[in-house]
Amino acid sequence: QERMSYPKLANHSSPGYCNITVDHRFDCAPDQATREDCENRGCCYSSTYRDSQTVPACFFPLGYPSYKMGKLSPTTTGYKAKLKRVMESFFPNDVMTLKLEVKYETEGRLHFSVSILSAQVCEKSRRGPAVLAPQVRCVLQKLEGGEEGIQTTTQKKKKKKIGLNTTVAPLFYADQFLQISTALPSRYISGFGEHLDRLTLDLDWTKITFWNRDGGPRPNANLYGSHPFYLAMEEDGSSHGVFLLNSNGMDVVLQSAPALTWRTIGGILDFYVFLGPDPKSVVKQYLDVIGYPVMPPYWGLGFHLCRWGYYSTNVTREVVRKMREAGMPQDVQWNDLDYMDEKRDFTYNEKYFGDYPEMVQEFHQLGLKYIMILDPGISSTGLPGTYRPYDEGLERGVFIKNQTGDPLIGKVWPGQTAFPDFTNPETHAWWYDMLEDFHRNISFDGMWIDMNEPSNFVTGSVDNCPMNDLEDPPYVPGVIGGTLRTKTICASGEQFLSTHYNLHNLYGLTEAIASHDALIKLLKKRPFIISRSTYVSHGHYAGHWTGDIWSSWDQLYYTIPAIIRFNMYGVPLVGADICGFGGNTTEELCIRWTQLGAFYPFMRNHNDFYNGPQEPYVFSKEAQDCIRKAIFLRYKLLPFLYTLFHQAHSAAETVARPLFFEFPTDPNTWTIDHQLMWGDALLITPVLKKGWLEVTGYFPSTTWYSLFDFSSFRVYGCLPSSSRMGHVKGSVIKSKGQYIILPAPLDTINVHVRGGSIIPLQEPNMTTSASRHNPFCLIVALSEHGLARGELFWDDGDSLMTFESGDYTHILFLAKKDVLLSEVIRVNSQIDGLILGEVTVFGVLKYPKNVYVNGVSISTFSYQPETQVLNVKLLTLLMGEQFTIMWS
Ligand code: NOJ
Repeated sequence: QERMSYPKLANHSSPGYCNITVDHRFDCAPDQATREDCENRGCCYSSTYRDSQTVPACFFPLGYPSYKMGKLSPTTTGYKAKLKRVMESFFPNDVMTLKLEVKYETEGRLHFSVSILSAQVCEKSRRGPAVLAPQVRCVLQKLEGGEEGIQTTTQKKKKKKIGLNTTVAPLFYADQFLQISTALPSRYISGFGEHLDRLTLDLDWTKITFWNRDGGPRPNANLYGSHPFYLAMEEDGSSHGVFLLNSNGMDVVLQSAPALTWRTIGGILDFYVFLGPDPKSVVKQYLDVIGYPVMPPYWGLGFHLCRWGYYSTNVTREVVRKMREAGMPQDVQWNDLDYMDEKRDFTYNEKYFGDYPEMVQEFHQLGLKYIMILDPGISSTGLPGTYRPYDEGLERGVFIKNQTGDPLIGKVWPGQTAFPDFTNPETHAWWYDMLEDFHRNISFDGMWIDMNEPSNFVTGSVDNCPMNDLEDPPYVPGVIGGTLRTKTICASGEQFLSTHYNLHNLYGLTEAIASHDALIKLLKKRPFIISRSTYVSHGHYAGHWTGDIWSSWDQLYYTIPAIIRFNMYGVPLVGADICGFGGNTTEELCIRWTQLGAFYPFMRNHNDFYNGPQEPYVFSKEAQDCIRKAIFLRYKLLPFLYTLFHQAHSAAETVARPLFFEFPTDPNTWTIDHQLMWGDALLITPVLKKGWLEVTGYFPSTTWYSLFDFSSFRVYGCLPSSSRMGHVKGSVIKSKGQYIILPAPLDTINVHVRGGSIIPLQEPNMTTSASRHNPFCLIVALSEHGLARGELFWDDGDSLMTFESGDYTHILFLAKKDVLLSEVIRVNSQIDGLILGEVTVFGVLKYPKNVYVNGVSISTFSYQPETQVLNVKLLTLLMGEQFTIMWS
């Protein structure tokens, strides 16, 4: 095709044409064009920056040709316009005419899309189980298109404007290159997963690549999942979010203007702007579009233990036995690849796992649950008739195909493998059949789906990949390895819904959906699935762990922003391998990691094959005491954690969240990622450095009470747990918004309860099936005005749709000055017989002479004047009935 040439730089006569400050330069050579190419494009070149990887040496001059917007015409919900390109761009296959549609979908949500004229842009909220089909199709619309210069300044709650000005750089909308840049109203940006990074992103030319990849987390690398969503904190404490619904390989470049550029290699530009005005509303508005989180079973919140290398049933049994012998609570035992016969899915090794079915039954009898790993790669080398998953998969046409229409063959753990195409409904049926067959022998309770980026040990396929535009597009995002096929399958692989080029980032999500649906059908209970790869809306189906992190103090810290971010993406069921996966841990690191891990919404200790052991029982007696205490602390807090998950599931709340979600008007909180919160009530300040016995934490301006009683060496509420250390009295912090140094003996993680909250706890036990029968306790943390509130959501812990069908108990707790009362909003039989055994009230200013329970005076209470803590014990109040406790 004859292309029009750009006017050379010299031909541009406007003054100040290239006079653009570095921060405001937008890259005119993302494809690494030479100086000559740059100038042929009519762009500016500055050799000063030519060696830099990130600062663009070649940048757009002012007024660079792009699209022109036609007349804006109103529609029922917004307006639309045509965009016409004035001349071809330097990328092949421009779409010269586009349509822009802008919709004010709700008060807090603006949706705008740029697509080719005939494109059906996805519409309506995608909440609910019907999410998948429209969403995948939607992101699949590999349309060509683009737009220019939308001034998407939107009215925020009729008071304030947020400026996302896209006129700062030209728009591109070619077949395989779509780019839009925008000025940002803020420098505080978080999101854009999955990457190893601090919570607040560095705007100094940070390039973030979205192309799911198997690789141990490290900075500046594309990792296992893709979440093209960010949340911005604005200078006045308000917040907004932006989501690009596009599954193609993508880069986002941040620059300190502040500005950012979205650069994707397919699909359409389908943006949602969430207007907040506070960060929690932004997340809710985002989840209104992508789906609310699935409700996990109660047992899934207990302690999980795993490693690669439990090579037999006897070894696995020993692990469970030693955990019990050491008095460590545990809910779930896992097996990695070791159980398989030649590492093939849906098989087990007769020699070492001969009595595998019996082992799982035994675990069940102990009140434990069982989970094993499954990889998507299906071994393709067995003789016909010897391996049902492949034979039947072939017959049913479930595998991703290569250009000749045969299954694309790569290599994973079992050797050569084919890859199920989870966008094909037949694959879902086949996956279910395989699981059902396996479950007849091995009564597993949940699934661990790994390697689903999908990972491939050869590049593309054992037969290489064809040479075409999908394999080598005109622009390749900043993927590790330099090509789309690195460590995965060929981009040109054929799937049911489209090419792998368009679907790659959806592989883990679609496998999670197939697994979620299969488990519901098979177990008729809530599915529990932990997946390595994720995409937008993953949390609606499954959880995630952060992959192969290293056993280091540095990586311990990075798990906090990672866990917070996944909560922002609607995946609250997230954890990191406690004590680290790669490399050997140390006793101290493992203690500190278990303490922080007790506050991962999903708590699992997992270890790589080659490392020394790191199960809680392998350490010294002192270390075991510390670890046990941390796990017990979590078990005490489970009713609160479960209630938070219910709020996530029913109201799009986050479980683990950053401080700024609760204190958005305090700028000191905006970048804090060494601490995290559970809900709005608990502030966790872990030790993240070797040798530290003190830790500094930020306490926003309010009253905070330590959950650890340094005067009696125990954690408040429910059974006392012993401790060897502790030397500080007094647990109240009345902060003015300040950093505070806290004692942090090795056996202690600092947890503070925010004044104004009531936390439901339960006496812990060795499993949740046992602890769920124990008495509850309440921690009442009075605000400076003597008020507090909290709630409990309770149901049978694993039935489907209990909330939706009304089969649950919901209790509110309210405290005002010297009265605590419960209000039973809804009650079901699951609460029958469960009692409230103890109440601890923080912030009781005067020594109470009397305590009345439902009007009757009792004597089983104590008061500590130094800490102003009232403790009421030996209660036998039925949780399902309203009660009043007064002190005077
Ligand atoms: C990679 C996973 O990330 C890791 O957790 C697992 O142990 C290995 N695969 C072996 O299955």
